[in-house]
Amino acid sequence: MQHRARGGNGPSPTLTFFRQWLKNPLSVAALSPSGKQLARLMVRELPERPRRVVELGGGTGVFTQAMLDNGIAPAHLLVVELNEELHKFLQNRFPDVNVVCGDARELPAMVESAGFDRDSGVDAVVSGLGLLSMPRTLQRDILRAAFAVLAPEGRMVQFTYGPVSPVPRETLDELGLTVRRGGFAWWNMPPASVFIYQRARSRPITPVRAGDRNGA
Ligand SMILES: C[S@@+](CC[C@H](N)C(=O)[O-])C[C@H]1O[C@@H](n2cnc3c(N)ncnc32)[C@H](O)[C@@H]1O
Repeated sequence: MQHRARGGNGPSPTLTFFRQWLKNPLSVAALSPSGKQLARLMVRELPERPRRVVELGGGTGVFTQAMLDNGIAPAHLLVVELNEELHKFLQNRFPDVNVVCGDARELPAMVESAGFDRDSGVDAVVSGLGLLSMPRTLQRDILRAAFAVLAPEGRMVQFTYGPVSPVPRETLDELGLTVRRGGFAWWNMPPASVFIYQRARSRPITPVRAGDRNGA
């Protein structure tokens, strides 16, 4: 079943987004919402049939809409947006989705009050945050919060303007994370890359047999 956005009488997403960028360029971190090609590449990296997905920095809902169009049920989605105007916009556009106004750093508390912490937790975090323009400490706090709610095999899907991961190697090592590259959205304004972060799995340790130990 496809879940559509509410009718076309509301304010324009592009104009709403641009107004919020004028008020807070560092936090909004883009002049206009992401395009559909990037949204497709983000959704492509989700695990099959995820039960719980959290979206950080929903903006005007480009990724939210793409996830709903890909069959993720509104009840399986929790969207976090810091900006009050954009939060109101999202609530109005997606009345069936749990949209929370708050800071991504407080994710564990929001996940708990939404009941998303039950069973194995969250399968994926889709991040539309401008991680690249954030100070390293803020970036690290957000990654910590995301991996605190993610299931052991969970992943965080992030986009960035530019060809390299927005999270530096030192932060990945400190948090015990791995990164792999997803797709590249040529037609996005500006073009954007997708990166996927997961917990590093330690290599299984093969027990040493008594014979091997004695050099036999
Ligand atoms: C680059 S925009 C992306 C919006 C949307 N996902 C898109 O791709 O069009 C970043 C969004 O993250 C929100 N944001 C910034 N810092 C945040 C934080 N700490 N917690 C939650 N949302 C935040 C901004 O208000 C903005 O809507």
